Amino acid sequence: MPLDDLTAFRPGFAWGAATSAYQIEGAVAEDGRAPSIWDTFCKQPGAIAGGDTGDIACDHYHRWPQDVALMKALGLNAYRFSISWPRVMPEGDGRVNQAGLAFYDQLVDALLEAGLAPHATLYHWDLPQALEDHGGWPARDTALRFADYATVVAEKLGDRVTDWATLNEPYCSAWLGHLQGVMAPGRTDLTAAVRASHHLLLAHGLGVQAIRAAAPRARVGIVNILTQSEPASDRDEDIAAAHRDDGHSNRWWLDPIHGRGYPADMVEVYGTEPPIEPGDLETIAVPLDWLGVNYYKRSVTVDDPQGPAPFARPVTPPGTPRTGMDWEVHADRLEHVLVRVTEDYAPRSVLVTENGSAYPDRVAPDGSVHDVERTAFLESHLAACARAARRGVPLDGYFAWSLLDNFEWAYGYSQRFGIVYVDYETQTRTVKDSGHRYAEIVRAHRRTREQAVVEL
Ligand code: IFM
Repeated sequence: MPLDDLTAFRPGFAWGAATSAYQIEGAVAEDGRAPSIWDTFCKQPGAIAGGDTGDIACDHYHRWPQDVALMKALGLNAYRFSISWPRVMPEGDGRVNQAGLAFYDQLVDALLEAGLAPHATLYHWDLPQALEDHGGWPARDTALRFADYATVVAEKLGDRVTDWATLNEPYCSAWLGHLQGVMAPGRTDLTAAVRASHHLLLAHGLGVQAIRAAAPRARVGIVNILTQSEPASDRDEDIAAAHRDDGHSNRWWLDPIHGRGYPADMVEVYGTEPPIEPGDLETIAVPLDWLGVNYYKRSVTVDDPQGPAPFARPVTPPGTPRTGMDWEVHADRLEHVLVRVTEDYAPRSVLVTENGSAYPDRVAPDGSVHDVERTAFLESHLAACARAARRGVPLDGYFAWSLLDNFEWAYGYSQRFGIVYVDYETQTRTVKDSGHRYAEIVRAHRRTREQAVVEL
């Protein structure tokens, strides 16, 4: 593929890979970690494919030096990881588990030593079960507890970690966890979901303040999963459904953090008001240093008046290549999403905080993993990023999802997203062809900055 012009990417561009705590760490009962809602959810019969759990995952808790070395060898300059709240504060508030905090302390030191900028996410879905038992995200108090947790972590790591995300994909926590019930805590209650969405965003705003108070040099953002919503046909009903899908997936999460409050059309669709108290919307709209965009696929919907909110049923039109998740591959929609957020919301800086694809990889007899489709996916999506940057998107980084094959939530270990293959029996890591290609691209970009010309 030649990526024809890597000069589109700014100097200082973050070339990274991303992971999250529950998906890779394992060691769920070690050094004082208490259960999260995901430990509990995994025990529900039928919740997770194959009855899988994150108990061991990639054993990153013990193998992190090897994983840091892998990233260094690939030439990456950034690593996005998440911190496990129940490792740091097992009861969700109050007592700090110093052993849990020490794990991230040593990880951050090792990353810096390896030339990798740590990008820490405070919440990637692993709410301490103790807080769930007190009402979870539908309860306002959880947002206040999050601010305390943010303070503890930022006070410990803020002298070395500059880039912080409050939440990863609150869409999933609220809608998949409380409305569709396919993620922890597995509820199917629209009112609870809307309440959860507001308290997640409140936690974000309070978290930004807490991080900045503890770490004045911090650059703070939020990570949203965004999509391009498209109607399945040109029927008026489907066009309206796509607009609702856009509200549900994109505007509900972007409007409040940019000072616009919740989209009125969506409050009407849900038929229930978020529990806003005086000052909440101002807290939620605290200006950010960057906006994180996770992009995987477009969203095509048909009108579905009898279905769950937002009454737009996803469909997968035939004729487009799909990944192992059955997700359509449309790199140009990533360009559109990036341009759209820039035009509509004018973020100071944008990071593609996740982008990637799952395929059923195998280790070949020569010991390599020839993941041709993932390599093509990576290249086409990076080309889309380059086009977006040329169109004025202030793009400052790209993080491949994921560094490692890992625990893919309700899909268990059946889906492999890594640029590094993990043999779960032996915990052997093998860099896939896509990982090698990514390393070449990163090296080439470094050369473009040095020479202003590239020939891949
Ligand atoms: O694995 C997830 C990740 O935890 C959040 N973003 C989407 C990924 C792929 O489904």
